[in-house]
Amino acid sequence: TISDLKGLKQGQLKLSVITTAKYFVPRLLGPFCQRYPGVDFALQVFNHEGLLARMSENLDDLYILSQVPENLDVAAHQFLENPLVVLAQREHPLVGQQKIPIERLSGEPFIMREEGSGTRRAVEKLFNQENISVKVKLELGSNEAIKQAIVGGLGLSVLSLHTLALEGATGKLAILDVEHFPIERNWFVVYPNGKQLSVVATAFLEYLLDEGKKVAEETAMDKLH
Ligand code: PGA
Repeated sequence: TISDLKGLKQGQLKLSVITTAKYFVPRLLGPFCQRYPGVDFALQVFNHEGLLARMSENLDDLYILSQVPENLDVAAHQFLENPLVVLAQREHPLVGQQKIPIERLSGEPFIMREEGSGTRRAVEKLFNQENISVKVKLELGSNEAIKQAIVGGLGLSVLSLHTLALEGATGKLAILDVEHFPIERNWFVVYPNGKQLSVVATAFLEYLLDEGKKVAEETAMDKLH
C-alpha cells in the first residue's frame, strides 16, 4: 500500500502542465511535499502544442492538460473541471447583464491567445459553430498579459476561470454571462501508454485523482460560484 512505500518515496518528479493549470498545480504540490519530503519537483509550463511536443519525446513523468491528444497513444485520467469564461473589465457596459446573446461579442474588440493554444482552439470552435466573427484587436501568448490588457481596456477575452484563482471575480475583472458560456472543459493527467511510472509518479498520480479536486476547490475558486 501507499503507506508501506512511504519511506521509499524520494527523487525528482518532472511535470509539464498547460498554461492554465499553473494557477493551481503549484498549490497542489504543497500537501504532497509535506507528506513526502524526499520528493523534489521540476515543473514546466507550456501551451497545448508545446506540451504535445514534450510528450511525444517522453521528456516528463506526467502531463496535465485539457485536451487529450488524439494521435498519441496515452493513458488519460480526468480530475477537475476547467470552464472557459468571457472576461471584461469591471466598468464594461455588459457587466451585470444576463444571458447576453453570443452575437453581441461580434461588435467588441477581442483579445485572443496565440496559435497553438488550446484555449484559442476551443474559442474558435464555438465561434465557428455559432457563426460569430470577432475583431481580434490583440493576440497574446500569456494569460496574465491578457488579464492586464482587459483591465487596460483593450477588449474582451475568453480564458479559463482558474486564471482568476488568486484574485477571484470581484476585482478589476468581471465574468460576463454570455450564452453558450462557460465552455466546458476538463483537466486530465496524462502519460504515454505503457510508460513505466516511477514510485513517486504513481504516488502523485494517485494523490491528484484522490485529492486534487478538493485541494483545488479550497482556492479562491469557490468564491466564484
Ligand atoms: P493553452 O491551454 O495554454 O494551450 O490555451 C489551455 C487549455 O488547453 O485548456
